[in-house]
Amino acid sequence: MKGLELIGLNENRTILEQIRRGSNKKNPFESQTFRDENRVSLDLTYVFDAPGEGSISKGDVENLIPRVLEAHRLLNNNEGNIHDGDTVMTGWQALPDEIDQTHLDEIRSVARSLSKEIDAFVSLGIGGSYLGIEASVRALTHQYFNQLTREQRGGAPEIYFLGQNMDPDYFRDTLDMLKGKCIGVNVISKSGTTTETAVAFRIIQRLMEENWGERANHLIIATTDRSKGALRRLANEKGYRTFVVPDNVGGRFSVLTDVGLVGLAMAQIDIEEFVAGFQRMKQLTRIDDFWLNPALVHAAVRHTAWLKGKKVEVVATNSNAMYFVARWMEQLFPESEGHQGHGMWVSPSLYSEKLHANGQMVQQGERNILETFLFLQEHDNRIEIPRDENNLDGLNFLPQNGLDMNAVNQKVIEGPAYAHYLGGVPNMSIRIPRRNAYNMGQIYFMMEKSVAISGYLLGHNPFIQPGVEAYKKAMFALVEKPGFEKEAQEMEEALKKLERMVIHA
Ligand code: PA5
Repeated sequence: MKGLELIGLNENRTILEQIRRGSNKKNPFESQTFRDENRVSLDLTYVFDAPGEGSISKGDVENLIPRVLEAHRLLNNNEGNIHDGDTVMTGWQALPDEIDQTHLDEIRSVARSLSKEIDAFVSLGIGGSYLGIEASVRALTHQYFNQLTREQRGGAPEIYFLGQNMDPDYFRDTLDMLKGKCIGVNVISKSGTTTETAVAFRIIQRLMEENWGERANHLIIATTDRSKGALRRLANEKGYRTFVVPDNVGGRFSVLTDVGLVGLAMAQIDIEEFVAGFQRMKQLTRIDDFWLNPALVHAAVRHTAWLKGKKVEVVATNSNAMYFVARWMEQLFPESEGHQGHGMWVSPSLYSEKLHANGQMVQQGERNILETFLFLQEHDNRIEIPRDENNLDGLNFLPQNGLDMNAVNQKVIEGPAYAHYLGGVPNMSIRIPRRNAYNMGQIYFMMEKSVAISGYLLGHNPFIQPGVEAYKKAMFALVEKPGFEKEAQEMEEALKKLERMVIHA
């Protein structure tokens, strides 16, 4: 039997766009028309006065304005509870204007020369050293990127992510995908000591050295602290090419640093356009006119929702590609807000899929939910729904009413927004005109600024994550890491007091 032909379908515009980027064609992101066509907006239609308990009124949010503006003032002046040790952790605010063209050129040139030598690129990292890169690559490329031809990828190598967990099967499966290929690696760790990333790197480094000897050093990039840490020392010893994670930018705020930019450049994503998106949102969110500043409004709505008993934020999108941005938000907000018993649990969701899973809970479960949509307005491709002579599923009305898949996929947000509101779930939509690097930059900056304001409103430092250390200590105690003898002893004592209870089936 002959293979499937995509009869009646146009070429995939995501692929055409990748090819276009690969031949250095740029979007006119400096033009006013482009900017007007790419305005991210925040739709609050279904936020206020949802029926039932815990509803939010516009007055509740307005009452918060003086505190939000004070938080904004402190943030602009780099004041308040924003230090990690002696370092003021608001470097991400200055980044959009600080990044210079020479540095972007350097990143692109390293990415280009490495790309030429390899078939596959592996980005190693966890948390802030991972999520923003995968979110950006997934948001801006074909969903089966690695299965496309190199030409369809715009010349980019295949791209893989490791070091974000300790699952040996996943690790081995990924290695199977790399077998027989020339690979390049970017090992990303600000501290240089994160176990998951370091273990992954050990394994990959050994394989690379055993295959290619000294040449392996040339295929490895290390992105880490400018001067200190184990990875910096190793990089110096081996002569790896290096990029820097700035001191004053925390992991989850680092997508616009070398942490994110190198991976994006490897995927042939326009990093200048990405920076321009950050710059644009920085400019738009500079103002103190509350209702005109989406970052301030976003922070105030979320904080009010939390005060009203909302403990879960469902971040839902109608785009597979944008789902990974919801996952990035799953780190940014809880890691920054989850201190001292505060914060909302962020639940990334892809609609329609999740509407047939936890959608029931959103509609009729405990009313402790706020919903935020990452609402993609325009998809790359248009897909018609065919008419069917028998019409057994009764869906002929869709093409008859001129509705294609794209139109229905808008209703996948608009329908739930209305229904969930009536069910007592306030919800807001971040409307994203289309998938491009400019809009990604805008969203990232808006969310970073929102969570920073949230930290001031909650009264704690959003730029540290002391809670993450607890699991590390427990794990080190369990694996008998030297220096963790005291923790191991404490654990042994604590375990003696717990009733060991396992039910064997
Ligand atoms: O946001 C953060 O700071 C964390 O999520 C870190 O990025 C994560 O723990 C990885 O740390 P490192 O880059 O030091 O390996």
